[in-house]
Amino acid sequence: MKILAIETSCDETAVAIVENGTLVLTNIIESSVAKHNKTGGVVPEVAARDAAEKIFPALEKALQEAKLTHNQIDALAVTSGPGLMGSLLVGVETARTLAYLWNKPLIPVQHITGHICANRLEVFEPIHFPALVLTVSGGHNDLVIWRDNFVFERIGQTIDDAAGEAFDKGARILGLGFPGGPLVAKLAEDGNPAAFAFPRPMLRSGNHDFSFSGLKTALLYAVRDAGGLENISTQILADLAASYQEAICDSLMQKLCMAYEKEPNINEIHLSGGVSANNRLREMITQVGKERGLVFRFPKNISYCTDNAAMIAGAAYWKFQSDVHNDWSWQKVQATLSRLLSV
Ligand code: KG4
Ligand code: ZN
Repeated sequence: MKILAIETSCDETAVAIVENGTLVLTNIIESSVAKHNKTGGVVPEVAARDAAEKIFPALEKALQEAKLTHNQIDALAVTSGPGLMGSLLVGVETARTLAYLWNKPLIPVQHITGHICANRLEVFEPIHFPALVLTVSGGHNDLVIWRDNFVFERIGQTIDDAAGEAFDKGARILGLGFPGGPLVAKLAEDGNPAAFAFPRPMLRSGNHDFSFSGLKTALLYAVRDAGGLENISTQILADLAASYQEAICDSLMQKLCMAYEKEPNINEIHLSGGVSANNRLREMITQVGKERGLVFRFPKNISYCTDNAAMIAGAAYWKFQSDVHNDWSWQKVQATLSRLLSV
């Protein structure tokens, strides 16, 4: 089953075609990130306009690259939320129109389930459920038990900032660009992760929730105490980045371990979402997996970590397979999408 998916929940305009939830035939990602660099964060209006301009060229490119015509597509899928309303509307309206014109089923996909299913892209061996998933990006930060192909149970989430947002805000405090995660990670390579003692929030909370807003404030004070950005040496800046990254990754890793200890029968541990691109976090969780004899998976390709449409096509396949009714005709889905988008 070949599914063409559209993902426009934030600053990416993405179109992908995936066969049977795993084989990626094409994965087009057009980003408006350069336009947000000046503002140090995504401006919703700018992102929506950019998506409107890029969606049709991206669709054409996807079909061309996969060497397919629309007649060879079995279903359409689209991110229905959460995300920026204007950007989401571009994707949803495009998908709705195509589903009507091409007379194909249309499968709405919740963005976070897409990030989780990204770990099945280009993976041809089965997943041994249940898996404990840490899915972390700029917009969400969740611990989920993945019980079956399309059965998810969220057991923890952030009570304020997501870890990706902490990276982005930290990068701004350190005078770096946007998005902050890769820039903090790069700078951290030359720094000492033990140079600054940043807090590990919520470790004694007794639940599976996260908090990162205090950490960002601690970084702000550390920069101030070191004499302000203009007076900080390159080495201190790298030490701040390394210590800040260490605190974020350590908090995530420790919460994952605590959840693993409490949840019986977990067979695999997974990491997904934009922050799963972080090498230090991967390193820490690889160690956790080794010590416990657990399979540890993260997206096979770096482009499946951050927002992409392949993960939406993948999730749509497992959703379609799991739904006993399989009634994803565009008329029925219209009502669902309208409700989700409240329009
Ligand atoms: O999944 P994603 O593309 O968008 C949302 O759903 O929010 O994730 C983007 C987030 C950004 O906050 C970005 O800073 C972070 O993922 N990110 C990273 C890395 N690459 C991207 N964070 C840490 N290390 C990285 N290498
Ligand atoms: Zn995302």
